[in-house]
Amino acid sequence: MEFYRLIENRESIRDYNPNEKVHEEVLLRILNAGRIAPSASNKQPWRFILVSSPQKLKEVHECYHREWFKNSPHVLILVGDKSKSWKRSYDSFDSIETDLAIAMDHIILAAENEGVGACWIIAYNKNILAQAIQLNENEELYCITPLGYQNPGFKKRGNKIRKSMDEILEII
Ligand SMILES: Cc1cc2nc3c(=O)[nH]c(=O)nc-3n(C[C@H](O)[C@H](O)[C@H](O)COP(=O)(O)O)c2cc1C
Repeated sequence: MEFYRLIENRESIRDYNPNEKVHEEVLLRILNAGRIAPSASNKQPWRFILVSSPQKLKEVHECYHREWFKNSPHVLILVGDKSKSWKRSYDSFDSIETDLAIAMDHIILAAENEGVGACWIIAYNKNILAQAIQLNENEELYCITPLGYQNPGFKKRGNKIRKSMDEILEII
């Protein structure tokens, strides 16, 4: 899809058909968009965990209590490792959140390009999610998204509620 049309069309999707899995090759193309995302000093301080099995999904779906989330046939979890991320020398600023956010944005845009719904979720219960997956030492949870197709009849909102350019842009 043409890039500007793609970013106009993308919406957070909160409607998933639990019975329609996404083919593995499609999932891999979406995940590859995250794999090749840029990161500070190219440290790539991330790990992607794709949850697709019914048993694990049941556990992971408990981390965010919205009915639409519990219907998603896949959940992608982005995990970051602060021992691997880039730190700015003079003030130790850690780029990890930026790195993980860029990876997630690549993934969400790639999902849109594949006609697969996604919704960035941050308001999950960290403890429940951490119990469901195996985190390595130094790893932390950063963001998750359901991945899947919508139920028949689903329609996007089709309107972007955003501040105007006048409100956010300063040209000096
Ligand atoms: C960092 C971040 C965290 C978000 N967390 C949640 C969330 O926990 N639950 C949810 O339903 N949507 C979440 N969203 C989706 C936003 O609500 C959504 O992107 C915003 O309202 C704009 O709508 P749009 O994505 O449809 O354009 C999150 C988005 C971002 C970027």
